[in-house]
Amino acid sequence: MSEITPVISATGLYTPPETITNDELVASYNAYVELHNSRNAAAIAAGEVEELQPSSAEFVEKASGIKSRHVMSKAPTLDPETMGPRWPERSNDELSVMAEIGVKAALDALQSVGRDPKDVDAVLCAASNMQRPYPAMAIEIQQALGIEGFAFDMNVACSSATFGIQTAADFIRAGNARSVLVVSPEICTGHNNMKNRDSHFIFGDVATAVLVEAKDMAPAKHWEIVGTRLKTVFSNNIRNNFGFLNAATPETIGTPDKLFVQEGRKVFKEVVPMVASMIVEHAGDLGIDPASLRRLWLHQANSGMNRLISQRVLGHEANDDESPTVLDTYGNTSSAGSIIAFHLHSSDLAAGDTALICSFGAGYSAGTVFVRKVA
Ligand code: COA
Repeated sequence: MSEITPVISATGLYTPPETITNDELVASYNAYVELHNSRNAAAIAAGEVEELQPSSAEFVEKASGIKSRHVMSKAPTLDPETMGPRWPERSNDELSVMAEIGVKAALDALQSVGRDPKDVDAVLCAASNMQRPYPAMAIEIQQALGIEGFAFDMNVACSSATFGIQTAADFIRAGNARSVLVVSPEICTGHNNMKNRDSHFIFGDVATAVLVEAKDMAPAKHWEIVGTRLKTVFSNNIRNNFGFLNAATPETIGTPDKLFVQEGRKVFKEVVPMVASMIVEHAGDLGIDPASLRRLWLHQANSGMNRLISQRVLGHEANDDESPTVLDTYGNTSSAGSIIAFHLHSSDLAAGDTALICSFGAGYSAGTVFVRKVA
């Protein structure tokens, strides 16, 4: 039996309408710092509590490349007394927040190619955090879209979407599904620690969807999946200890290690060489000259990291056309970042162009998806 070829038929995007600029975010952080320092003045003077230092919008843009981010819940995130998204509790009969934005991104992908949800066989909700353990958000999205078949959640931090694409492609090759939606609702402001000066500016919220299908049912315009590769290497440098074994403990709930924590400098240093060699080796194994890649849609965490990775891959500093950024307006959106870049900056490529979607992040985890434009 000849192998069934998986391709990318479509992508979809949901962008929350509210945004927070660096100036707004820094003003909120600095109001929190003033409150903290005045409430703890005596303890700070006695050397028992650390005095907090203000953040700066100039630092944020220079260190990360981020200018603004889209968010799901602006006012509570900026309120120095809450500093995080808040929603009224929804009943079990209402769509959950993650499923709601996942459905919007999925519909954007399906409608762009006129695909009837009834022709989709599986939904993967691939994201760095899940709103609840069960029932799976993926099954909720499946139900909301009227899809038969199966669905499950998968979490590989910033590499969830690329791991989802390979999983979907493997299902199709094995004949277990013909049309698979990989949905990545990323509400990163919900697990960021907005009270941590080193990382309060990093994240934004978004949802993306990728429709992976058997070539014989795909629209004429699609992306051949030339090759996928996944890699994980254990590291504590990006960590979040929140989980069901500590969520209900009053003394630990809300403590900083139950939110996103990173050693940003170490991540930078270790992940850049790991990802650059992974891309070059994978390209070599596929018979692709890395310097000939038409475009790199890289994970969107830090513009400096992307500059170094693309330089090592292409052999020269990439321009915006070769390695487009969405980091400036979306911030780091975890697994959705490289998919947003692909979604927004791919229509101008010509048939036959070969390019790369690449993710990297906590775990460490990294994924490479080489694609070639067809028609
Ligand atoms: N405002 C002003 N100054 C700040 C600041 C802020 N918000 N946060 C930190 N600083 C200061 C520090 O105190 C430090 O001062 P010092 O030199 O006097 O000690 C200086 O700026 C440098 O801080 P550092 O944390 O080393 O900055 P950096 O240049 O490494 O940039 C990151 C920080 C997080 C943007 C960067 O390391 C990064 O993006 N790393 C990769 C992250 C990544 O990809 N993570 C994956 C997440 S999924």
